[in-house]
Order: sequence, then C-alpha cells, then structure tokens
Amino acid sequence: KVNIADPARGMLTYEKEAFLDYWASQENAKHGNVGTVLVLEPTAEFYKLEGEKENKLTWTFVSQYLYQSKGKLAQVLLSLTVTFCLQLMFPFLTETMVDTGINTKNMQYITLVLIAQLMLTISTTVIDFIRTRLEIKISNRITLSVLSDFWIKLTRLPVSFYETHQTGDVMQRIGDNHTVQAFLTGQAFGTIFSLVNFVVYSIILINYNFKLFVIFTIGNMLYLGWIQLFLRIQRRLNYESFNLSAKENNATLQLVQGMQEIRLNNAEQIKRWEWENIQVGSFRLNIKGLNYSQLQSAGATLINGGKNIVITFTVAQMVVTGQLTFGAMLAVQYVIGQLSGPVSSFLGMVQSYQNAKISLERLNEIYELDDEEPIDQNMLKYLPPSKTLKFENLTFSYPGAGNDPVLRDINLEIPEGKITAIVGVSGSGKTTLIKLLLKIYDQYLGDIKVGEGNFRNYSPSFWRRQCGAVLQDGFVFNDSIAKNIAVGDQNIDMERLIQSCHVANILSFIETLPNGFNTQLGGDGVGISQGQRQR
Ligand SMILES: Nc1ncnc2c1ncn2[C@@H]1O[C@H](COP(=O)(O)OP(=O)(O)OP(=O)(O)O)[C@@H](O)[C@H]1O
Ligand SMILES: [Mg+2]
Repeated sequence: KVNIADPARGMLTYEKEAFLDYWASQENAKHGNVGTVLVLEPTAEFYKLEGEKENKLTWTFVSQYLYQSKGKLAQVLLSLTVTFCLQLMFPFLTETMVDTGINTKNMQYITLVLIAQLMLTISTTVIDFIRTRLEIKISNRITLSVLSDFWIKLTRLPVSFYETHQTGDVMQRIGDNHTVQAFLTGQAFGTIFSLVNFVVYSIILINYNFKLFVIFTIGNMLYLGWIQLFLRIQRRLNYESFNLSAKENNATLQLVQGMQEIRLNNAEQIKRWEWENIQVGSFRLNIKGLNYSQLQSAGATLINGGKNIVITFTVAQMVVTGQLTFGAMLAVQYVIGQLSGPVSSFLGMVQSYQNAKISLERLNEIYELDDEEPIDQNMLKYLPPSKTLKFENLTFSYPGAGNDPVLRDINLEIPEGKITAIVGVSGSGKTTLIKLLLKIYDQYLGDIKVGEGNFRNYSPSFWRRQCGAVLQDGFVFNDSIAKNIAVGDQNIDMERLIQSCHVANILSFIETLPNGFNTQLGGDGVGISQGQRQR
C-alpha cells in the first residue's frame, strides 16, 4: 500500500497496483515500470516569505445570496417562530389535561384542552404550508443567482482555462453549486430552527428535572462524538466520488458525441468497457459509502435508543417515588421526543455542512483564478493609427510542464492593408500564432507590437471584437444559420451578413435552402459539409 498526503483531501491510501498504474509511466529494463519523483525541501528563506494572499470564497460571501431574499427570509423566520411558540404549549396542555382533567374526572376540562390542542395543530399546519411555499421561492431565486454568478466567472476566465480543464470536471462543479445552494436554503435554515428548538426545550427539561437533562446531554455528547468519527472518511469519499463523476461525465459525453467515430472503427465494445469500468468504480465507491453510513447510523440509533431507555427508566422511577406527577412524566416524554428531532437532524446537518464546505472549496479553485480582464486593470480599448503587427523575438510554449517551445525566436511583420498568408508544414505552429494574435494565450516571451503599442496592453474582449476568425475546428451552435454567422450580435445587420456570406462564397448555397438564413443547424437541425461549416 502507498500513503499519500494530499492537502486538499487528507491522507489517502492506494493499493500498490493502482498507484503504479498512474505514477509509473516509463519502462525500465532493470527495474520494470518506474516514474519520476520530485523532492523539494524549503530553505530558511522560504519561511521568511509572506504567503500568497488568498481571495477566498467564504460563507460570508455565500450568505450574501441569502441576504438578497431577506424579506422572504424574515417571513420564514417569523413563521418558524410562531410555529415554535405554538408547539411550546403542547407539553403544558398535556400535563394539565392529565393532572387536572383526568385526576379530577372533569370531562369538560379535558374536552377544552383537546380542542385547544386541535386548534394548535391546525394553525401549525397552515403556517407550515405557507412556509414551504416561501422556502421554494427563496431556493429558486438563490439557485439562479448562484449558478449565473458561476457562469459569469467561467466566461471571464482566460480561454486557455478550457484547454486544461475537462468538460466533465466543469460540469461536476456545477453540481457543487447545487450542493452549496441546497445547504443554504434547506439545511442551514432547518438547523437554525432546530438549534432554537433544542435550547428552549432543554430549558423546559431543566425546569422539570435537572438530572434528566444531565443524562440527556451525556447521551448527546456520545452521539456527536460518534458522528465526528466519520467526517474524515466522508471527506475522502466526497473527493473520490467527485473525480469519478467527472470521469463518468467525460465518458458519457465521448460515447454520445463520438458515436459515429466509434462505429466506424468498431470500437463499440472497448469504449463501452471503458464506461463500464468507471461504473464499476462508482459502484464500489457507493458500496463503501453505504457501509460507512450504515455503520454510522446504526451506531447513532443505538446510542440514541440507549439514552432514551435510560431516561424513561429514570422518569418511571421518579413517578414511582413521587418526585414527578403522572402528567409531568407525559410532558417530559413529549419534550424529549421534541428534542430528539433536532438531535437527529443535526446528524444530517453536520454531513451536509461538510459536503457543502468541500463543494465550496472546489468552487473556490475556480473563483480564485484571475479573470482574463481584471476590473482594476485599465486595458486599451482603441486602435493605434498604424495597425501593422510586429513580432519581436517571440518565443512561446504551451502551458504545462515539459512542453518545448512551439514558436522560437520569431521575427515577423504583418503589414497593414495587405493580405498575409502564413504557410508551413502541419504542426509548425500556424494555429498557435493565430491563437496568440487572438489573445488566447499571453505567456509568451518577446513582444508583439500593434503599430507602436504593446499588444499585451489591449483589452482581450475589445481586441477580439476587431478580429474575425474561423479556426480549424469551429463550433456550430444549435441555432439558425444567421445566428451562427453573427454569433454574439443581438440584432443582426442583414446587409453585413449577406456581404460576409458573399465574401465567404456561401451565399448561393444558403439561398438554395428552403428556409434560407433561418435554416436550423446543429444537433437538431440540418447537416452541412465540413467546408460549408468552415465558410
Ligand atoms: N494545447 C496544446 N498544448 C500543447 N501543445 C500543443 C497544443 N496545441 C498544439 N500544440 C503543439 O504545438 C505545435 C504547433 O501546433 P499548431 O496547431 O500551431 O500547428 P499548425 O501549424 O496549425 O498545424 P496544422 O497545419 O496541422 O493545423 C504542434 O507540435 C502541437 O503538438
Ligand atoms: Mg492548424
């Protein structure tokens, strides 16, 4: 077995084979499969450095979403408080019904108390009904803002981000948003209420009998300790399942999108096996999770049940020795029943709090990335008089360890107003050059000049608005031809559209289509040829 300390996930243990599978990438005649180890040791200098400033996505930040719906939230809190106060009367009603009503055989009194109880039940039901509707409204609104903020962040990241992150990973992080939102709207609230519930009923219990309260508290401590034991394991499972789900998303996408290729190459079985292997992995993980959660809840139930029996025994003893009246015993039982609700909802809360926290950490990995165009940075948004492009000693290698420079020491001038074609063998860096000119990458050495200005100072979004580009593997949206050509324009300028189609030599083709520019393309539209797609 191999132990790995991962700062994000804690201590991990891998089987030797699984570890070698990923780590040992080279074959060695003498030692079999080997990998590379990088050993780093901090010098004294390291500890003098100030750490990087973190700009973390914290709960305070997240709770601003709650703040947006503060009006509705106040109503929910109000309704919770009212329900709670109404429920507070139940134990006392029960006590007087038994001690006064039954003991004095006063039927009228009993009926009165029961009618009061009925009224209370009806009121709490109505209030619950209204509250649930409010909560759904709040939760919808928060989901919307949480997700659209995430999309805003995703669209502000440098384009190169998408080259290093797989689709499945990004999709899985959208799931993380849901976890955080569900915690905010569901659990967080329920828990505040449960806590209040817990405190007030505890006070009532202390009032009835202090000894009972002590037994109750000891039981709960044990219960909490038991839950705590499992949190670490759950954290690990959470990360494992995130990675697996991201892989599963990727595999599913590949199966759907690559079906034609798969069929052509007779790769159905292999690709399906790959998918099934991931499924087997997540099946194992589910079983593992199930084992732990069953163990956890079995232990919790035992502790809880044991505690309740001890309490019942003590109460019965007190009634026998005359320390408590019969009615008070029923009331105490009711109070304890009310207390165990919050306690067990606490179990769920602790877990979903941790899950939400992990999700938040993962979202943070995205939120703490720098925007392509930081707001506080003033970037140029106008073109210089001379628009000649000049490369000076340009060297570029793709981000990632061990990538050799693709472009090395390029000196080149692309004069304004002329047509320049760049020709080269496949893989020589033509597309790379164009991507640099579209500001998709900016970690190049040397300089690019626009006239006299430095290319780095131009705002990427402004610059791209001045550029028209069709890359090798353009993407066709599920939309009409017109909207596919004028991507990003709300109102399409027909004259420009026709002009550009004319230039691209595709106008006559579009005119032969029955729906012309309104023809739907993409997944649920008509197909077009590769050449037509590029044009
Ligand atoms: N995202 C990437 N990460 C790492 N290396 C890359 C990446 N994209 C391209 N390369 C490498 O950069 C080199 C140049 O690629 P580029 O796409 O610019 O070639 P090209 O001249 O456009 O070729 P073609 O004519 O085949 O389109 C290639 O050797 C390729 O392996
Ligand atoms: Mg190319």
